[in-house]
Amino acid sequence: MIVLGIETSCDDTSVALVAEDGPLLEKTALQEDVHSLFGGVVPELASREHQRLLGPLCRALFSQSGVSPGELGAVAVARGPGLLGSLLVGLGLAKGLCLATGAPLIGVNHLHAHLLAAGIGQDIAYPALGLLVSGGHTQIWRMASDLDFTLLGRTLDDAAGEAFDKTAKMLNLPYPGGRYIDLLGQGVSPDHSLYPRPHLDDPGLDFSFSGLKTAVAEHVRKRPGLRMADMPAPGDPFDPGLADPETRVACASLNWAVADTLRIKLTRAARLHGPFASLVVAGGVAANSRVRSMAADLADRLRLALRLPPLALCSDNGVMIAHMGRKLALAGFRHGLDVDAIARGKK
Ligand code: KG4
Ligand code: ZN
Repeated sequence: MIVLGIETSCDDTSVALVAEDGPLLEKTALQEDVHSLFGGVVPELASREHQRLLGPLCRALFSQSGVSPGELGAVAVARGPGLLGSLLVGLGLAKGLCLATGAPLIGVNHLHAHLLAAGIGQDIAYPALGLLVSGGHTQIWRMASDLDFTLLGRTLDDAAGEAFDKTAKMLNLPYPGGRYIDLLGQGVSPDHSLYPRPHLDDPGLDFSFSGLKTAVAEHVRKRPGLRMADMPAPGDPFDPGLADPETRVACASLNWAVADTLRIKLTRAARLHGPFASLVVAGGVAANSRVRSMAADLADRLRLALRLPPLALCSDNGVMIAHMGRKLALAGFRHGLDVDAIARGKK
């Protein structure tokens, strides 16, 4: 069965085809150049960009893959959580295709799809301890099977990705800044006393990253030299070696503070809700090199199989929506053409 996946929940416009043996083709357009001017996603502009990009991307997907809409076994679309206007653009296209072809419509939970992306091209051993770290969410899940998820903990304020993006803005780096902070911190020793690992005194599994943002803001206020003098344009080559050494230590320390906070909460979750067979870490921040090495060490120590999505499938993408939609379709799920967008979810 070939499934089309449509992802428009935030600022990435992405469509993909997935068949039994895995992804066939993906077409993605990033809107970074539009939102970078504002230092964050502007919802109105995001939905207009989806509207402009989605039709042509979908047409290119069909023509370049040689698959015709009539061959689709299902149309899967991210129905939330996300930006309402953006979600509605994807849902509109999905409903139109289903009406025209008779294919079943599958509304997919964007967060669950991120986690299941770790199972593309490899099996996830269940039960799995799942960490979703993205620009909008930081959550710990118990995954009993491909389609059975229980939320164990979540952030009470900012998501981990927001800590990266807001720090990047303070350092004069482009939006979204996580990958620049990652690059600037690579190969540099973190100062463990520079930034707090927030909310660890709370015995539960929830997170709070807003204090980290405040600590960075205070640091930048005292040391204005931390700001990069020239902001690279999105997509331009970026040489971390040109940054001030103190800026690089600040970035390494932030990478460490986030990764170590995640490690401590995951260790706690494994103790409270285990035993688990595997550790899954997914979402945009799962591309962070320190988060990935933390996850590898932790899985080793807890004797869990480690499942990380490939780097290209950590950020928002249509493949993960098609992959999860295919699983739902094979299990007999489908939505009516009146299915609604779900704008916001628990962080
Ligand atoms: O999953 P995603 O593409 O979109 C949401 O669903 O939010 O995640 C985007 C987030 C942004 O905050 C971005 O800065 C962050 O992922 N990100 C990173 C890295 N690559 C992307 N954060 C830290 N290190 C990275 N290498
Ligand atoms: Zn996402």
